[in-house]
Amino acid sequence: MALNLRGRSYLNIADFSQREMLYLLDLARDLKRAKYSRSEKKALNDKNICLIFEKTSTRTRCAFEVAAHDQGAHITYLDPSGSQIGHKESMKDTARVLGRMFDAIEFRGSGQDMVQQLSDYSGVPVYNGLTDDWHPTQMLADMLTMVENSDKPRSQIAYAYLGDARNNMGNSLLLLGAMMGMDVRMIAPKDNQNEPEIIKMAEEWAEQTGARITITDDVNAVEGVDFIHTDVWVSMGEPAEVWEERIKLLKPYQVNMDLIKKAKNKQVKFMHCLPAFHNTETKVGASIAEKFGITELEVTEEVFESPMNIAFEQAENRMHTIKAILVATLGA
Ligand code: CP
Ligand code: NVA
Repeated sequence: MALNLRGRSYLNIADFSQREMLYLLDLARDLKRAKYSRSEKKALNDKNICLIFEKTSTRTRCAFEVAAHDQGAHITYLDPSGSQIGHKESMKDTARVLGRMFDAIEFRGSGQDMVQQLSDYSGVPVYNGLTDDWHPTQMLADMLTMVENSDKPRSQIAYAYLGDARNNMGNSLLLLGAMMGMDVRMIAPKDNQNEPEIIKMAEEWAEQTGARITITDDVNAVEGVDFIHTDVWVSMGEPAEVWEERIKLLKPYQVNMDLIKKAKNKQVKFMHCLPAFHNTETKVGASIAEKFGITELEVTEEVFESPMNIAFEQAENRMHTIKAILVATLGA
């Protein structure tokens, strides 16, 4: 299958159809094999890509930089301290400047409206590298990782997401499964479930794709799933004051061995977009342990350090899938 996605942006999960996502996944697999077999050809020679990071990143930034480099493109990295964005220049003005210099722009920050403005005013493809609402490039990596780790046809794969379902990962994973016709279980306390309009969108898509959508606060709903996803309980940009309440609310949704047993599937795999709080080896982890006496948050060390954990494959796949997006939307 080949599709022409040249010039397209990826601002939220709805920007590519199921067929386009399947094409990007095929392309990502081809690019991954080409890299491993040292037969990769450069399709982005002399392209210039701007990476704007208002929030911090390890995977997304490195995935864009390595993907661009492998394909012959150049990148410019901008963070809030090294540019005029926000404090001296609006996004609308910035977009009109960057669009005259770059072939594409990636943006990570809070506002979906910022990435939308970049797209509206730059005239070049814009990629959402995470906003408060969505994490679309992560979805291609998650999908590739699930398909690579399952013998089942895509539509037969079942996965659960536990924790803060209202965040960018919860929203994106709900709609990914709905778009791909999968069995999706969103498991979160009532106060942390997806907003009604996002559930409605997922249900409408599910009618078209045959997806099975479950929204529940019952952790027993993990029974029979192939993959268990979670994410941090407090996302970037949220105030530190919410930790106490979030820990109380989400502790019953921690991915631990008891929860894994409820899946009743010996092959079940654990997934996480990362970074994850599974011990006290980070500043945040240590400070939470000191304040609230809890040393493991959304996932326990036991699950994280077990062979069930495929989050590092998932992290690698960020690069192959982001490369597929760049090649498809910018390639010669
Ligand atoms: N998963 C993810 O987006 O990681 P970073 O925050 O390190 O980019
Ligand atoms: N929900 C997390 C995802 C990090 C990749 C956050 O926004 O901080």
